[in-house]
Amino acid sequence: MRGFHPSLVAFDSLPLAERLFVRARLFSAPLEAMAARARGTRLLDVGCGHGVLAALLAIGFPERSVVGIDPDARKIDWARRSVGRFPNVRLEATTVDALAQLEAASFDSVFVADVLYLLPPAQWPTFLSACRALLAPRGRLVLKEAEDDGSWRAKKTLWQEQLMVRVLGRTHESGAVGFEPRETLIRALEETGFSIRESAPMTRGYTTPHVIFVAECA
Ligand SMILES: C[S@@+](CC[C@H](N)C(=O)[O-])C[C@H]1O[C@@H](n2cnc3c(N)ncnc32)[C@H](O)[C@@H]1O
Repeated sequence: MRGFHPSLVAFDSLPLAERLFVRARLFSAPLEAMAARARGTRLLDVGCGHGVLAALLAIGFPERSVVGIDPDARKIDWARRSVGRFPNVRLEATTVDALAQLEAASFDSVFVADVLYLLPPAQWPTFLSACRALLAPRGRLVLKEAEDDGSWRAKKTLWQEQLMVRVLGRTHESGAVGFEPRETLIRALEETGFSIRESAPMTRGYTTPHVIFVAECA
């Protein structure tokens, strides 16, 4: 059943509100579909939040090493207290730029789930270039965003995320809360030197217009 996964056991020690949050996160976003697109054993989750995707990637896969980073120290604290207890997981409160300075070309797959909408599009090239710098040769980027397709889903998602960022203060933003059309996402990836291997819209059964991209260095 969606929203339930064995790896969520990692979050059992968190307070109820956080446990409900991670369950809702797994229910409302195709994180399992992202995890299924992992390649290689050195995996990085940029903007990992509580670490739900990191848990899907790491738990039950001892041969993998999973790094999760997020600029929000509160989120990293929740992640460390849960998925961070697994020996193949490392969590850092840092930025993708800072990590790229230290660990360039170190990852087989880099994941970015619902982060770009928190940055002004003018900052996407810098962010995506840092993701690219972190990838080893033949590495892949697995990116998920909500797209602005003009639908009721897009309007609902914008309203919901403004609530999360501006009213409830649960999500740390980096200068924006907004969604862009799929073409803008594709252009940003291509202009950063990525070649898109897969573009998978996922709206069926969701109230958010999700789209997953798998991209490789061109
Ligand atoms: C909607 S949450 C998604 C969390 C996680 N990726 C997931 O799918 O559950 C957005 C996350 O992006 C993080 N974030 C905000 N600005 C960021 C930035 N400039 N770089 C990386 N992460 C950022 C936030 O702190 C937050 O944890």
